[in-house]
Amino acid sequence: MHRHQGICIKRCVCSRVDFADLKELADLHGAETIPQLQAIREFGVNCRLCHPYVRQMLRDGTTEFSHIVHGDERS
Ligand code: FES
Repeated sequence: MHRHQGICIKRCVCSRVDFADLKELADLHGAETIPQLQAIREFGVNCRLCHPYVRQMLRDGTTEFSHIVHGDERS
């Protein structure tokens, strides 16, 4: 039987910060956008692959992803 190895995406790898920690900061400071969150804690300034995930996190609170989220440029 084929065993599917799921992916788990839960942090900005480049800045070494978990989405869960970013969410805590966003809740604490009322940040609703990536730039607002970046003013509090630096992340997402290198490859930016984490942006679509953080964007969804800010929308619905998800901090762990088991699927690829494709980016759009809205923030
Ligand atoms: S993973 Fe966030 S900038 Fe690269």
